[in-house]
Amino acid sequence: MIEKPLQLGLAGLGTVGTGVYETLFRNHELLEARAKIPYAVKKVAVRDVERVREVDIDPALLTNDWRELVDDSEIDIIIELIGGTTDAYQLVSSALAAGKPVVTGNKALLAEYGSELFRLSAEKGVPLYFEASCGGGIPIIQSLQNSLICNNVESIAGIINGTSNYILSSMEKKGMSFEEALERAKAKGFAEADPSLDINGWDAAHKALILAMLAYGTPIAPSRISVYGIERVTPTDFRFAHQLGYTIKLLVVIKHHEDTDALELRVQPSFVPRSHLLANVNGVFNAIAVKGDIVGETIFYGRGAGKNPTASAVIGDIVLAMRDRRHPDFHTGFHPYTKTLEIMPQEDTVTPYYVRFLVPSRRSGVIATIATALARHNISISSTSSTAHEEDEAAENTHNDLVFSLHACSWGSLKAALKEIVQSDCVAPHPAVFRIETFNS
Ligand code: HSE
Repeated sequence: MIEKPLQLGLAGLGTVGTGVYETLFRNHELLEARAKIPYAVKKVAVRDVERVREVDIDPALLTNDWRELVDDSEIDIIIELIGGTTDAYQLVSSALAAGKPVVTGNKALLAEYGSELFRLSAEKGVPLYFEASCGGGIPIIQSLQNSLICNNVESIAGIINGTSNYILSSMEKKGMSFEEALERAKAKGFAEADPSLDINGWDAAHKALILAMLAYGTPIAPSRISVYGIERVTPTDFRFAHQLGYTIKLLVVIKHHEDTDALELRVQPSFVPRSHLLANVNGVFNAIAVKGDIVGETIFYGRGAGKNPTASAVIGDIVLAMRDRRHPDFHTGFHPYTKTLEIMPQEDTVTPYYVRFLVPSRRSGVIATIATALARHNISISSTSSTAHEEDEAAENTHNDLVFSLHACSWGSLKAALKEIVQSDCVAPHPAVFRIETFNS
């Protein structure tokens, strides 16, 4: 007897949706041979059915109403690639409620509504797959869920936004301006529909919340994560970073503190030693270092954004969903959100720091004022350096960059010391502050 093909409903035909549709079509034979399950795309929901598309698709498949996918009793699996959190939330929750497994790459949706959607998925016994929500083509979700299952995860650190890494690498290696690099990332299909999420760190934060939720089984409100973006990274900071033996990367750090059973959770541009693997992750590439008590150190590397890498992750999930649908007994029944951990206050997190002050040249006593304020908060200085600020070199040379490398201290003490220093009026407001990641613990 010939097996009836499983019917797929695809919502969204943007960059990733197009990659998924093309690959399902192009590699149909290979996928069916490997999955041993026949499939067909039954409907594709798009915003505008009239739009001219780069993909060759039968117009009869198109609808502008995603509800048709949920209501169609013949559709077995829904693939949500419409993005955003409004329609996507309605689509995913109504599909799960209707008993249809969902594959999604929507990190913003899971960061905001993951707790609720996974509860619904567990209640209904209907799986929700989300490999493409994190790290583009890197199979990090499956790895955490399955391959690393025996580990207590000690830490996860990495680069998980392709667009910001592309921008930082282009500024550092090619001397490109921030704006030009962003335009190129948009043209290559790496950036979000709203690229401010890539720049301000929130896309990485959404992914960090998903990884933390998976690794620690805890729900985390997005407001609990400390997030800084790459907006204020300048060529001057790259120059000093190089002098000191570092580069600058937008890093996600998730660390479990065993003594307090609390999670440290933050996203910020950080100094990374140039000898570390993460310092050599450039362009759209992502890398995620996972440290487990049994496995030790691992590092996952690959393209973190773009049409085909992300489509690869989505299709991996589609095949899983098809297998689980055909053989439900084999579903692992993985349920995140099984316990609640405290989130460490940002003030208590401890790292070494780089701080760059802009100081009027010929002003005396500035170093002494800064050093005294730092000492008052028990912060010790590991090195200082100073140069004329680059914009002033040709002109009057009215400002100097004064850089301090600081030994490990809490963010709370440094914040208090910086407040005093800025109030003393000897430096310009808003010094550049970067954490230095040592990856030692
Ligand atoms: N805008 C995202 C990035 C897409 O650049 O990483 C992949 O999640």
